[in-house]
Amino acid sequence: MHSTLLTTLALCLTLFNLSLAKTINTGAILTTRQTTGADPCLDYSITATHAIIGTNTTYRAAYYALSNVGTLYDARMLDAAIAKLPSLKTDVALNAQCGNQTEIKTAEAATNFTMGIVGPFSGVQPLVLNAGPIVVVVVALICGIFGATWMLMP
Ligand SMILES: *[C@@H]1O[C@H](CO)[C@@H](O)[C@H](O)[C@H]1NC(C)=O
Ligand SMILES: *[C@@H]1O[C@H](CO)[C@@H](O)[C@H](O)[C@H]1NC(C)=O
Ligand SMILES: *[C@@H]1O[C@H](CO)[C@@H](O)[C@H](O)[C@H]1NC(C)=O
Repeated sequence: MHSTLLTTLALCLTLFNLSLAKTINTGAILTTRQTTGADPCLDYSITATHAIIGTNTTYRAAYYALSNVGTLYDARMLDAAIAKLPSLKTDVALNAQCGNQTEIKTAEAATNFTMGIVGPFSGVQPLVLNAGPIVVVVVALICGIFGATWMLMP
């Protein structure tokens, strides 16, 4: 009786798992279809934007900091765009149809960055390093506190 109950429970969990996996799979297929959409220019422009952000370490770091979907997911997306861009960049017909998005987006990314924008995110904070006399005071204080602990130790 006991084992039957356990078996039923295990079976239920397995079925639940299967249906969960199925749901996730459907989502993935949908996403793929959406990103390789019908508009080749949109695809080229998005790929160029992601590849430019992915190649420049400054943009990439800012993108990771502002994005909230997770670094692993972002890294995969940016790396995929970097791998994909060369074939689009050299496609003469595509560049004639859409304009050279590689050049356009490179310039746009640089302009955006001066306004604190990286890709879809705004509010990039410039890295501010605190330097000046205050650092000497703080370091002296730290040395004093830890030094005192050391010297007064029995
Ligand atoms: C588009 O611009 C990129 C970067 O300047 C360049 O490498 C590429 O050859 C250009 N593509 C075409 C088809 O002219
Ligand atoms: C990355 O972008 C910054 C800001 O636009 C620029 O100053 C820098 O030269 C770029 N670095 C590379 C490797 O392209
Ligand atoms: C520049 O900023 C605009 C507005 O935020 C954004 O739609 C666009 O994708 C950005 N371009 C790049 C290359 O990051």
